This record gives sequence, C-alpha cells and structure tokens, in this order.
Amino acid sequence: MLSLDYTFMTEGAVAGGIPDTALDAAARRFALGHAAVMSRWKSGELGFLDLPDDEQQVAHCNELARWATDRGVRDVVVLGIGGSALGPIALRNSLLPSSWNMLSAANRNGRPRLHVLDNVDPTTVTSLLERLELGATLFIVTSKSGGTAETMAQYLVVRDRLDAGGRPAREHLVFVTDPEQGALRRIAGAEKITALAVPPNVGGRFSVLSPVGLLPAALTGIDVAALLRGAKQLRDRCDADWAQNPAGAFALLQWLADTHCGRHGHVFMPYADALREWAAWFVQLWAESLGKRRNDGTHVGPTPIAALGATDQHSQVQLFMEGPNDKTVTFLTVAEDGHDLTIPARHADIPDLAYLGGHTLGELLSIEQKATSGALASRGRMNMTLTLDALDAAHVGALIMLLELATAYAGELYGVNAFDQPGVELGKRFTYGMFGRKGFEKDMVAFKALPQSDPKRRV
Ligand code: PA5
Repeated sequence: MLSLDYTFMTEGAVAGGIPDTALDAAARRFALGHAAVMSRWKSGELGFLDLPDDEQQVAHCNELARWATDRGVRDVVVLGIGGSALGPIALRNSLLPSSWNMLSAANRNGRPRLHVLDNVDPTTVTSLLERLELGATLFIVTSKSGGTAETMAQYLVVRDRLDAGGRPAREHLVFVTDPEQGALRRIAGAEKITALAVPPNVGGRFSVLSPVGLLPAALTGIDVAALLRGAKQLRDRCDADWAQNPAGAFALLQWLADTHCGRHGHVFMPYADALREWAAWFVQLWAESLGKRRNDGTHVGPTPIAALGATDQHSQVQLFMEGPNDKTVTFLTVAEDGHDLTIPARHADIPDLAYLGGHTLGELLSIEQKATSGALASRGRMNMTLTLDALDAAHVGALIMLLELATAYAGELYGVNAFDQPGVELGKRFTYGMFGRKGFEKDMVAFKALPQSDPKRRV
C-alpha cells in the first residue's frame, strides 16, 4: 500500500548520514518505545488507534450524509481550528476532484461544496457568509473541547444569522464534540441539536479518522469505510520491529537525524498538488506533539517545514541544498496517478522544448522528485521518500495512520508526551483575561505585568 525508501538517510549513501551502528544501537530503544505505545493503547489512552475499528461512526456519518442530501444541502461549512480543521481540508483536497467547490452540482454528483473556516479573520468569515444561501447550508461546529474561543465565536456569528433568518438551528447545525463535556454538548442537549462524539481519548490533531474528518468526508461522498480500512491495515502492519514497520522507521530515522546527526528541521514535501494540505496537517501534528519542555527542564522537538514539489524547487530547495545542513527532507509521492497528460511534441527544432515532447507531466513530476532527492543526497543532505501506491481513500487512510503512529513513537523516543500541548495554554489564558472572562482575572494581572510595547522602539 505504501513504502518508505530511506537509503539517503544512511551513511552508506549520504556523507554524514545515520551510521548502521547508530541504527543498531537505537533498535532496542525503539523496541521499548513501541512497547510503551502498545501498552498505552491497551490501557485506553491512545484512542486514535481504535478509530479504524469503529464501524458505528461510519454508519452515523453516512446516515447524516443521506439526511443532508435528502434536504438539498448545497454547502457544508466546518467551523473549527487546528486539529478540527486541517484534516477536513486535507481530505477534501486529496480525495475529491480538483477545485471541488468550483464544480457544478452535476459534476459534484449532487454532493455539497465543502468550506472550512479555520480562522476568525472577519474578512474571510463575512465574505463566505455573504456568498452562502443559508437555507441550503449545513454548519458543522467541530470542537473536541467544545469551548475553543475561535470556534465558539464563529458559532455565535453563524447562530445569530440563522436565528435572524428564522432558520431552525436543528436543521442547519451539527456539532462534533466530546460525548459529555463542554459548551457545545450542553447546547446540543438543551436544544436537541445532533451532536456526534469525538472519543475522549482522541486528541484534536489525532482526530481526522473520527467524525471530525469522517463527517465532512461522508457528506461530500468520500468512501469513509475505505479510509478506515487503509488505516487499519497500516496499523496492523506496524506491530513489528522498526525495520518492518514503516511508522517505526519514519520515527526512528527522524529522531536519529535530529539527535545524532544535527538535522533539527524536517521538511515534508509532497510531489502532488492533491497531497499539499497533508503537509500543513503534518506540520501541526509533528510540531504540537513533539515541541516540548521535558521533565528534566530541557527543550526538544524537530522543526517541521511544509514544501511542495516541483513548485518549491524554484524556491526553498536552494536553501535545502546549500543552506545550513540542519534538515532532512521527506518526499511524499504517488506511484500511479490516474490523471496524466502527454506533453505535445512541438518545436522540434528548439532543444529547450524538444526534449519534453512525447513525455507526460506526471513523468516530469516524478523524474524531478528523483532528481532532487539524488541531488540533495550528493551534497550530504539526508532525505527519504514515502510512496503511496495509488491516491484513493484507502491509501490516504494508511498515510494518516502512518504519520500519527510515527508521531506517537517519536514522542517516546524524545521522552515527551506527544498527546498534550501545555505550551499553547498561556496565550489562551491571556486572551481570556483580556476579554474579561470570569476566572481569568489573575491572568490579566500577569499579562499587564509583562514588559509593554515601547513607543521609542518602533520604526
Ligand atoms: O491538536 C490539538 O489538540 C489542537 O490543535 C486542537 O485541535 C485545537 O486547539 C482545537 O481544539 P478543539 O477541537 O478543542 O476546539
């Protein structure tokens, strides 16, 4: 289903790469990390690993999709941020036809457009709301905690519009949230609004295979059962030693590259427009999970960087090739893309164009990836290539599970908890304090005690 070629991560192929001795020495550490992940899973802590087995959530999402189709829903809008938004965006862009929202209803097979409002920029929010026909719109309010400021603010804006237009909330709102706790669950209970559950042991950035990603996917006709099937296959394949375990190899190689070879940055570079948004999703997953202060007071965490091939060959690749040798590159490619296009053989007398004629755009993309990988390796730049055999729901499900599981392993290798995010709390508390939210008065005092902006230090 997918394979990871890590030749160019190793010393045998790349000067300064990982020596076999380091890999052998780290194998035991990986085995302990793998055992720790398995034991946390069995103890009920890592719910993301159970999601592929949850057939009930597939049934609920498909049922809601049928209900929406029957009601003539033409636009679906996800309100959410972070882990509640990046997955739905990446699923839409990788598994639906290109420019989905621009297609006619017939070309969308009668399925709705899918918008994801992942910010509170008033210009974007206003412009989308003005374009929508509210009577044919379904809003999915997604918040695991059910109380995130940005998502709640979006909900309040939308709710006001619905109420002002006399639109019954129950017909235009669905919540995706914790099964028991939080403001959204409370409103759902009081007003009988449909609310799908995100299991309490599944964190935001690990939730794309829960209704967070599955509901928008089902509404737009993506085969959610296949997504879970692919994820399950990959998960089961990873119950193995690192050398037979693609998620294990991914985590171990990146951890060694960072801690043994000084490659502190990790570029994630799909060579397919459809996979571009998985880079943004991966950046959040890797950064928020691994960038941590450890119990011993030290700070760890590789810096993930999103790039896109071939576009970034004319941009960031210069830095990757000749800048500080402190990064690895993970290429993401698809072996078989069903939509190729032949480059016409014209201008045979102009060498700058003639060599392209008769080849395909897919060939060019694929050869450019191999050329970039080899060129980087020749300059001592470590890189590896993750290849999906095809681009469909099952393969994307496998990709998601690989990257989530790799993140869990990496957490163990770095000695941090990959499933919390204490670093984002302080900023949230200062925001609440400045808004005068009850219970955050001390945070406002702490914020005011910080050095204030100095007018003399502005230019
Ligand atoms: O990964 C995470 O936990 C975060 O990025 C959350 O997804 C984000 O903060 C949104 O949280 P919530 O879904 O609770 O609104």
